[in-house]
Amino acid sequence: MQTDLVIEENCSLRDCNSFGLPAVARRLVRVTSEADVKRLVDDARLGRAPKFILGGGSNIVLTRDIASDVVVKVEVRGRQLVEERDDAWIVEAGAGESWHDFVAWTLDQQWPGLENLALIPGTAGAAPVQNIGAYGVELSDRFDSLDAVDLTTGRTVTLAVDALRFGYRDSIFKHELAGKSVITRVRFLLPRPWRPVLGYVDLARKVAERGPTAPDARQIFDWVCEIRRAKLPDPAVIGNAGSFFKNPVVTLEQCRDIIGRDPSVVHYPMTDGSVKLAAGWLIDACGWKGKSIGRAGVYDRHSLVLVNRGGASGAEVVTLARAIQESVYGRFGIRLEPEPVVV
Ligand code: EPU
Repeated sequence: MQTDLVIEENCSLRDCNSFGLPAVARRLVRVTSEADVKRLVDDARLGRAPKFILGGGSNIVLTRDIASDVVVKVEVRGRQLVEERDDAWIVEAGAGESWHDFVAWTLDQQWPGLENLALIPGTAGAAPVQNIGAYGVELSDRFDSLDAVDLTTGRTVTLAVDALRFGYRDSIFKHELAGKSVITRVRFLLPRPWRPVLGYVDLARKVAERGPTAPDARQIFDWVCEIRRAKLPDPAVIGNAGSFFKNPVVTLEQCRDIIGRDPSVVHYPMTDGSVKLAAGWLIDACGWKGKSIGRAGVYDRHSLVLVNRGGASGAEVVTLARAIQESVYGRFGIRLEPEPVVV
């Protein structure tokens, strides 16, 4: 028998965003299956109200209550091996699964490939939206396909890698499909044979410390957790949304100009001739590490992470972010672009 969706009213979203920012949803609906999402489309009580789709809330800055949109909290669970091929394992996660728990589970099942992406906060369904990445691996490197329900037609679509238009912390779900469809399931392609990705400087250091024995996927997972715990705050303890700005990409000329003035600027040449700069370094160089504006601050162990020092509002976070952008622009002529979505 089909049961009606439960519409919760005036819900606090403080525990639904990793920054711990205060905001209220006038109407919130939890969806636990694809069928629930389809019900959402047909529900006369909701009419054509726009939908605000919330995953793990680890990549948003809430500056206001959500009054006109219906907040859709995606809680679709489940994880399974879809196919075991000679060249890959295809593994599927419900969009509401915790990303880190899913990564740990794949390793427990002896399906390696996601270990470099350990401990990233958020859900499996949100992972492709911003193409999460860390320690030399981006989600797009391990993506197979996803199922999403179109919020206008109620139809399920399956999108493969080309349709996602992945970029650096970017996909079609941040543009044309933003708010238009709900991701319900994501499938990952874990290549066989497994090959470790150890090029990132922090991991290369671990390898050098360990000596000649090659690490397995579990060892890399443990290292990544260790590295992240040492420099990034745990959102369960200190509210934050990971890196607050993207690492800016500049031309070789711009980079040379900055090196001329600041030879120690951390930079990475890209294959297309442009250069990526470490935004954390730029912010640090402007003296922001450990500083605060109101109750929003710059983490004292990593300048790219803005934190809620306790009771901060979204407006305080945005004020701090703007002040950082201005000082980095003033000193380096570079406009930093926020990574999280500001609502
Ligand atoms: N740095 C400083 N001062 C700081 C912070 C960093 O000088 O306060 C320097 C570091 O010493 C290092 C460089 O900046 O030489 C880069 O720092 P890090 O290795 O920590 O990486 P990142 O570029 O700051 C990116 C991702 C992270 C990801 C790591 C590891 C972005 C915006 N951030 O950070 O992703 O975990 O690489 O791959 O691309 C996230 O997106 O939320 C996130 C945490």
